[in-house]
Amino acid sequence: MILQGKHIVLGVTGGIAAYKAVEVASRLVKAGAQVDVVMTPAATRFVGALTFQTVTARPVAVEMFALLRETDIAHVSLARRADLLIIAPLTANTLAKLAHGLADNLLTATVLDTHAPLLLAPAMETGMWTNPLTQDNLARLRKARDVTVVGPTEGRLASGAVGVGRMAEPVEIVDAARWVLGRAGPLRGRRVVVTAGGTREPLDPVRVLTNRSSGRMGVALAVAARDAGAEVVLIHTPGVPPAPWGANEVEVETAQEMRDAVLDAVAEADALLMAAAVADYRPLQVARQKIKKTGEPLVLTLERTPDILVEVAERRAKLPRLRAVVGFAAETERVVENARDKLRRKRLELIVANDARLAMGADTNQVTLIAADGSVEELPLLPKDEVAELVIARLAELL
Ligand code: C5P
Repeated sequence: MILQGKHIVLGVTGGIAAYKAVEVASRLVKAGAQVDVVMTPAATRFVGALTFQTVTARPVAVEMFALLRETDIAHVSLARRADLLIIAPLTANTLAKLAHGLADNLLTATVLDTHAPLLLAPAMETGMWTNPLTQDNLARLRKARDVTVVGPTEGRLASGAVGVGRMAEPVEIVDAARWVLGRAGPLRGRRVVVTAGGTREPLDPVRVLTNRSSGRMGVALAVAARDAGAEVVLIHTPGVPPAPWGANEVEVETAQEMRDAVLDAVAEADALLMAAAVADYRPLQVARQKIKKTGEPLVLTLERTPDILVEVAERRAKLPRLRAVVGFAAETERVVENARDKLRRKRLELIVANDARLAMGADTNQVTLIAADGSVEELPLLPKDEVAELVIARLAELL
């Protein structure tokens, strides 16, 4: 929802990555933003204005002295309207101009005039990027105004060389835009720890015991918390969807590793959302070599893993900043009764109960929210990102 109705100016400068800016525009539009593309004259040599105009369904501005509508001065009206100004790709040349307050084309004039935050996606040859002049220009710009930089990454460049200077991927640029737009949200200044995925308990060097959790619900919560302005720590197992831009990531594998990471992170956190499917049991012994097959049945002895939420509950008195702990109850029977019991036993502020058979691995989830005050809210079947937004809205109330 964060991009819905937002006015975004997308500046495109003259680099080969300009073709990828079309996808940035398209993703922003699909997410509900109103996108005004401003191209530098050099950018039009790489991609046609008509492409952007078609994707955004809005006029594309290039000419400094053309008028938008009848009497608007283009750079003034664009500068005023913008909630965010993205420049993707940003060339070394335009960066240098911005750093020195030049206003020699419609894009540079708009940037100089606007109070909107800037999100920059530089793209250039490695030599240009690492040149101290370019780095000084960036530092100078950062000092003067609210600037967020995404990328550049390492990879194949226009010249065919491999190095740092590739523009960040469009998904990542749009995700960074969400971070910028969400910063002032209801969870601003809050640190939220989220766990995601199913833990893996080793049996021998090549085998693990695990579960069907995809990590989608946990990552969706991390995204929603980030969009609401929280500083997010995402503790996850391997193979979960990508973490939201701006989040701190910790990758763990076993319940024990997750316990250590969670106890470490909650020391400085306002909230913990324990969405991970943590193993309850692990092999008592981990074989040092791969277990060989024999003609006999194989019997495994399992032992309990630490219950992370119980350990957090025991430490609550020493964690004054931690104001909300949210648990998840994945049940296959008596969903609400079992969840209530967990809420009490693990001393939670809120528990999100669902039927594990329907939720695990799916894109949708039907949950019931049960709060410590006894209130019960049954939500309809929704996509996991919408469930996440509703849970985060409840979290904001709790905090
Ligand atoms: O009791 P149960 O394991 O079903 O409770 C589920 C909740 O407890 C989830 O939030 C889960 O992440 C958490 N949990 C935990 N440590 C475990 C097992 C589950 O914190 N060892």
